Amino acid sequence: MTELKVSVLVDSDWASGSLVDDVRRGLGSHPRRLPPKWLYDDEGSRLFDEITRLPEYYPTEAERAILQAHAADIVTASGASTVVELGSGTSDKTRTLLDAFAAAGRLRRFVPVDVSEQTLRDAADMLHRRYPGLAVEALVGDFTLHLGHLPPNEPDGRRMVAFLGGTIGNLYVEERAAFLGALADSLDPGDSLLLGTDLVKPVDRLVAAYHDSQGVTAQFVRNCLAVLNRELDADFDLDAFSYVPFWDGHMERMDLRLRAESPQRVTIPGAGLDLDLHVGEELRVEISTKFRPDGIRAELAAAGFETVELFTDPAGDFGLTLARLA
Ligand code: SAH
Ligand code: AVI
Repeated sequence: MTELKVSVLVDSDWASGSLVDDVRRGLGSHPRRLPPKWLYDDEGSRLFDEITRLPEYYPTEAERAILQAHAADIVTASGASTVVELGSGTSDKTRTLLDAFAAAGRLRRFVPVDVSEQTLRDAADMLHRRYPGLAVEALVGDFTLHLGHLPPNEPDGRRMVAFLGGTIGNLYVEERAAFLGALADSLDPGDSLLLGTDLVKPVDRLVAAYHDSQGVTAQFVRNCLAVLNRELDADFDLDAFSYVPFWDGHMERMDLRLRAESPQRVTIPGAGLDLDLHVGEELRVEISTKFRPDGIRAELAAAGFETVELFTDPAGDFGLTLARLA
């Protein structure tokens, strides 16, 4: 069997790391917001996995259908011997891609990257057992900070970076530009990017996908307050916040917020911060941007990526773009 390696690039003690800076900067200013990466402790990753199985949450199955239909084309067009997966989570859908690479006898290395350490370790272990000839080199890291740590190309090799699920839509437009620029800087010409993006569609389906009838998404979003309570000794009362998801038609994104249902004084000792929240005050926990094909092409082109092909599922719900660094 080839090796399984896990390298940890993030500080395992969240409270001493960038969580404190993010909380001071994000919750201490107006409008109050938090970066979504803090949603994914073990419980958050478990809840996201549950979301992917909800009947209202169409992106996962739509992207899986695209991968099932086009994995072989993607393998051929990318010519990759290394696949890097950013925000890999359970790497569940990725198996469809890796199966196609395995069938073509091409792939030597798989590099999953995620901030959620245990979820990443479990996925890396599962993949290592499933593909005995594949070197799995997992990175516990932040894809907005650690792209410089991606392994270099092997001699005569090509890398393909998969960024699936529509996670790029959780970044603000300026963060997406910075991210794509940093990714281009860390790759070589000829390397490729496989980018999953959720597409603009009628509002009722979007709202249903983020306001599911079982309340799992509300639990997922509220979980960030539990993270602050645990990591920074904060005293958020989770039940005092209602979950408010809405479609921002101007920005073409879902905006996921928590609203204080009563006036509250919250102390966050680990960040040296006290918050006085008035009734109705909102914390934005996540955005989920929806894209149009021209917009995807333009954002990629601005960072130096040429679109090779945009694949969609039969219903046109989700887009998977294969792009190459010029
Ligand atoms: N790619 C999977 C999981 C998507 S959920 C899918 O398509 O279903 C988003 C994943 O990105 C989570 O596993 C989360 O832990 C990870 N993530 C979020 N922000 C991150 C960041 N800044 N750096 C690394 N991983 C991040
Ligand atoms: C990970 N990401 C693409 C999900 C999304 O759809 O934006 C996160 C999510 N938030 C609520 N539901 C799902």
